[in-house]
Amino acid sequence: MKKSSCFKISWIALITTLFMSCSHTYQVISPDGTLKVAVDVSDGRAVYSLTKDKRQVITNSALGFVFAGNDSFNSNFRVTGVLNETHDDTWEQPWGEDRYVRNHYNELKLFLQEKGSLKRKMNIVFRVFDDGLGFRYEIPEQDNLKDFIVKDEDSEFNMAYNNKAWWIPAYRPNRYEYLYSHTLLSQMDTVHTPLTIETRDGLFVTIHEAALYDYGSMTIARSDSSKLKSDITPLSDGTKAHLKTPFNTPWRTVIIAEEPAKLIESRLMLNLNEPSKIADMSWIKPTKFMGIWWGMFTDVYTWSQGPKHGATTKNAIKYIDYCAQLHIPALLIEGWNYGWDGDWVANGRGFLYTKPYPDFNIKKICEYARTKGVNIIGHNETGGATINYENQLDSAFAFYENLGVHYVKTGYVNSKLDGKEFHHSQYGVRHYQKVAETAAKYHIMIDAHEPIKGTGIQRTWPNFMTREGARGQEYESITNGNPPEHEAVLPYTRLLAGGMDFTPGIFYIDNPKKHVSSTLARQLAYYVVIYSPIEMAADLPEHYVGQPAFKFIQDVPCDWDKTIGINGVIGDYITIARKDRNSDNWYLGSVTDENGRDLSVPLTFLDKGRKYRAEIYADAKDADWIKNQLAIDIVTSEVTSETILNIKLAPGGGYAVRLIAL
Ligand code: NOJ
Repeated sequence: MKKSSCFKISWIALITTLFMSCSHTYQVISPDGTLKVAVDVSDGRAVYSLTKDKRQVITNSALGFVFAGNDSFNSNFRVTGVLNETHDDTWEQPWGEDRYVRNHYNELKLFLQEKGSLKRKMNIVFRVFDDGLGFRYEIPEQDNLKDFIVKDEDSEFNMAYNNKAWWIPAYRPNRYEYLYSHTLLSQMDTVHTPLTIETRDGLFVTIHEAALYDYGSMTIARSDSSKLKSDITPLSDGTKAHLKTPFNTPWRTVIIAEEPAKLIESRLMLNLNEPSKIADMSWIKPTKFMGIWWGMFTDVYTWSQGPKHGATTKNAIKYIDYCAQLHIPALLIEGWNYGWDGDWVANGRGFLYTKPYPDFNIKKICEYARTKGVNIIGHNETGGATINYENQLDSAFAFYENLGVHYVKTGYVNSKLDGKEFHHSQYGVRHYQKVAETAAKYHIMIDAHEPIKGTGIQRTWPNFMTREGARGQEYESITNGNPPEHEAVLPYTRLLAGGMDFTPGIFYIDNPKKHVSSTLARQLAYYVVIYSPIEMAADLPEHYVGQPAFKFIQDVPCDWDKTIGINGVIGDYITIARKDRNSDNWYLGSVTDENGRDLSVPLTFLDKGRKYRAEIYADAKDADWIKNQLAIDIVTSEVTSETILNIKLAPGGGYAVRLIAL
């Protein structure tokens, strides 16, 4: 899998008198020399700061913990050793936004020990990449620290100025499903990550985390106008995490870019995760799919039994035929198992994961799908009742595996898990991880709705492929919809946490009962702009038949060789280009907010001297996301790397192009 060999230098400076008499300031610089982290331990507290070139991004920010019983583990330290390391290798993803990922950083590890009688130890590790920073705490095995409870983690991110930020609130009933606010830091609530900030010096900074295992997820609280601090999601007993040494926390990450669209090219989060624990990954494959799904949001079908029951054998066969006819390789079926009748959100404990409703002959359906070359995507809604789900987890996945089903969409609709725990608490983190690992045993790939946020663990568990974790397109039906600005914010925020099952591809957008805030070309652009390795064509299949625009959905892949952020302004617009992993073709997508705009995009990313046929799906001159949604121009032209594409986006519109290498 390795493209180039790994390059590593390390050296340890163990404690010496000479060392201790120095200034107690340590620094580590990014490989390109632009980012500098300085760490000071002079008064027994570890404090770090971050600059890019001469611009101060994070000012002195404290590090450490408070354990249960107000036991501070954040001061009175001395440095007993320092490890510096340089690492440079390139690894190959089994699937993703970029096939090859370079992992190039300089590392500083400080070995700290309390000066008091307990002499407890902790290491703080900083990895500085060209595009940002990761740091984490390692609490080694030791006599005076075995089982412990985290009351607070005090990782500060003190911004140099009261910058503007894009954020969603944490600890709210709809989990991550909120519209983004754009305010000064001083007006910010306690928020989920990724949190994206535009600095006064023109930098774009995203605070997030990587490799979140067995710990509460990090939200960000404000202690002052621009002083930010980790606020670890509590368990229902108010504590943050129950742990045993040795323990490494998740990485706290800071991506830094000069232009907002470049944030999306960072692979720092993935690099801070461990390589795959699944040795044979040959069964893990991206796919596009349709579903017995949007019908439930448009009053055509119900999940529950009754005259409009969607998951019937008859409907499933019809949809499988549509998949075969429309060349979409997989079909999701929701509402097939016992548990949906009545208030399933209030009583998720009623879900049975191996018992189909009587009008759903699952064996026959799966056999029929096989003859048509269509994969079935299973569905396990839990209503947040995780204990009920965990009790049936092995049998649920074995049941699906025996039927030849290798994809499962999970769901956790509720404001709390089992009535009391946050989805993003240590409890939730453990649950989602257990599901991913159990699924791997049964060769099942997961698409989680109402998930824990992504922190790059798909590198280690590549079967945990995608998730929801933001307001998706279903909000077009369950509320007044998402304003077009929303999709011009997601790429710079939520999508930095990994793929999202946004459910694009609604063609009946001018449905008078369920108006969708979009033009038709924009629905196509989502396939490039909003990445998901399990990617839906979400509308009812009958709405695709005979539609020329559907060709783009058939053609566009969901597994990429390379991704480039072309241009954009957060909340206004974005343009992304991606190269197909399995051909020389490129795809480009652009979406705007409620304002129409003209963009010029030089196609310099194409191979020099090569011709490409551009199949363009553009908003027509008079298209509009409210008044004239379906007006689309589909044209073909020949382009090269010298061509400048003039893109015209309608208000609330989009643009999609397939560039076929000739
Ligand atoms: C909410 C999910 O986001 C949606 O996709 C699913 O259909 C319902 N829950 C039911 O599981």
